[in-house]
Amino acid sequence: MSAKKIETIGVLGAGQMGLGIAQVTAKAGLKTVLVKATPGDTDALKKKVEGSYGRDVEKGRMEAADRDAALARLELTTEFHQLGPCDLIIESILEDLPTKHEAFGRLDDICEEGTIFSSNTSTLGITEMAVKTKRPDRFLGVHFFNPAPAMKLVEIAPTITTDPEVTQAVHDVVASLGKTPVLVKDSTGFVVNRLLVPYMIDAMHEWARGTASIQDIDTAMCNGAAHPMGPFTLADFIGLDVVFHMASNLLDEYQEPRFAPPPILRRLMLTGQLGRKTKLGFYDYSSKPAGVNPSLTR
Ligand code: 3HC
Repeated sequence: MSAKKIETIGVLGAGQMGLGIAQVTAKAGLKTVLVKATPGDTDALKKKVEGSYGRDVEKGRMEAADRDAALARLELTTEFHQLGPCDLIIESILEDLPTKHEAFGRLDDICEEGTIFSSNTSTLGITEMAVKTKRPDRFLGVHFFNPAPAMKLVEIAPTITTDPEVTQAVHDVVASLGKTPVLVKDSTGFVVNRLLVPYMIDAMHEWARGTASIQDIDTAMCNGAAHPMGPFTLADFIGLDVVFHMASNLLDEYQEPRFAPPPILRRLMLTGQLGRKTKLGFYDYSSKPAGVNPSLTR
């Protein structure tokens, strides 16, 4: 079966990533259905999208008429079955395989045979998900980066059973979003997280061995390697629970010590200090500018 043209995108999961991805696809001219997978209303989500598009208009990156058209193209709903008519599904729900299996099982029942399924997972196996569906030839990884509207890269990860025409169709649609697609084999962590996670882990080891303070390690990497954020600011930005789970998944898969979560990461996670989202992680965000978490300066 050849791949049909991708005109309608379904995004399952309206967290930080799903919301950002839907914003990007609707802005690029594609009809987009964003399904909030957990209970709750969609009004707050709509306000977030309006706010983000509003900033684009203020900054001259978008005309007001284009904002209105993009908003009209974006359907926000809690009704799973609205994903039925979509050509490409991008799953962006909880990073938990059984939850994802269950979601793809439901999607298999409501979507047409030609619909392409993809997952935005960071470190779970695409093949594991694909083989549980009725369409392993139409299943691949499509991995965006946070914040999705700002980050250019999208990793496209076909499995050994993905139809090359499907991969090409998804590659083309991602390029049409103004993103830069790269092809990666289905491999836990793809390229970026496989390199980025050990980098953040190494920074934690350097701090633990007393090489430099958290702030100075961040300053060094921003100014010495031109990174937009140092490794601790980045880990807080991603979420320390997410970093911990990525590291654990990579360790499970590759059994390489470089992926082992350091004790400080485990302790911050266990105590609910998850970074920006909890206002406390490696840094304390309760006041501006954020200072280093006082418990890490003792
Ligand atoms: N939503 C939408 N757009 C955003 C945004 C957000 N949350 N945050 C920033 N932007 C965009 C805006 O277009 C903004 O321009 P504007 O202010 O004119 O509207 C532009 O980015 C620049 O933002 P700021 O001036 O506020 O801040 P910075 O210049 O410091 O940039 C940043 C912010 C883009 C987040 C930058 O610091 C950065 O690139 N950081 C690194 C992020 C990164 O590495 N992400 C990857 C994480 S790993 C990952 O996602 C993988 C996953 O599997 C875990």
